[in-house]
Amino acid sequence: MRAPAPLAGRTVLVTGAGRGIGEATAKLAAEAGAFVIVTDLDGHRATAEAISNAGGKAEEHTLDVTSAAAWAEVVDRVVRTHGRIHGLANVAGIASDTDNLADQTEQGWDRLITVDLKGPWLGMRALLANFLEAGGGKIVNVASVAGQIGMPDVMAYSAAKGGVIAMSRQVAMQYAKRNIQVNVIAPGVIETPILGDITEELRALVAANTPVGRLGVPADIATMIVHLLGPTSDFITGQVISVDGGMTAQ
Ligand SMILES: NC(=O)c1ccc[n+]([C@@H]2O[C@H](COP(=O)([O-])OP(=O)(O)OC[C@H]3O[C@@H](n4cnc5c(N)ncnc54)[C@H](O)[C@@H]3O)[C@@H](O)[C@H]2O)c1
Repeated sequence: MRAPAPLAGRTVLVTGAGRGIGEATAKLAAEAGAFVIVTDLDGHRATAEAISNAGGKAEEHTLDVTSAAAWAEVVDRVVRTHGRIHGLANVAGIASDTDNLADQTEQGWDRLITVDLKGPWLGMRALLANFLEAGGGKIVNVASVAGQIGMPDVMAYSAAKGGVIAMSRQVAMQYAKRNIQVNVIAPGVIETPILGDITEELRALVAANTPVGRLGVPADIATMIVHLLGPTSDFITGQVISVDGGMTAQ
């Protein structure tokens, strides 16, 4: 039986929580009873405000996931106020337009790898001492089906997301006996601003190539992240869970 507030008494930090999947995750975690540390470069204030207005518990912090100093500062402030952090959802990420072997630039490659791969590493590293001291913690890293299968025009993105999957498995093994669970969500194509101005034609093509026949919505992903941040997921670690409408099962 599912507890009515599975995250009650837990403090969880969500990156990229200003919009899209991160925003949905922050809001759902608050509905599940968590105190949510809502972080992003933009939009995080509005998310935290919406949570508070709905009767939830949240505070916002500006956090550039590529900055080790910013991670240290935010984690230090949160730990001083809340004592500990129970869970981390590394959701922030970027994609780029011309992401193929011919057209990707060195600068574009570096940026993608820095935000999408180094970002989650810095986040996990920043929380490690607090998790170890507290006797455990939960980490959910958001990768992509692009880290699992070949797809057009996502070269550096796939490299970063595949890296997140490999890195997460390794960290999961390293800390399994210390009660730190590390899992990865690999979303399919989800309706968020990261898709940019995709044409109706492409949208229809993606839906047709998705067994359930539609694109995902942020709540599809947030539900699984919140489950993995909660107490009923203690026996799940080192896993990649595709939430993709069956795309990778074909
Ligand atoms: N939408 C999809 O189809 C899809 C599919 C697979 C994986 N994903 C992954 O899901 C995650 C969330 O994506 P989304 O679809 O919600 O995209 P989005 O663009 O709506 O949201 C991404 C958020 O990350 C934030 N962000 C970007 N760079 C940052 C940085 N350096 N520091 C802090 N925050 C930063 C942005 O400000 C934004 O609020 C990403 O990791 C993305 O790669 C999305």
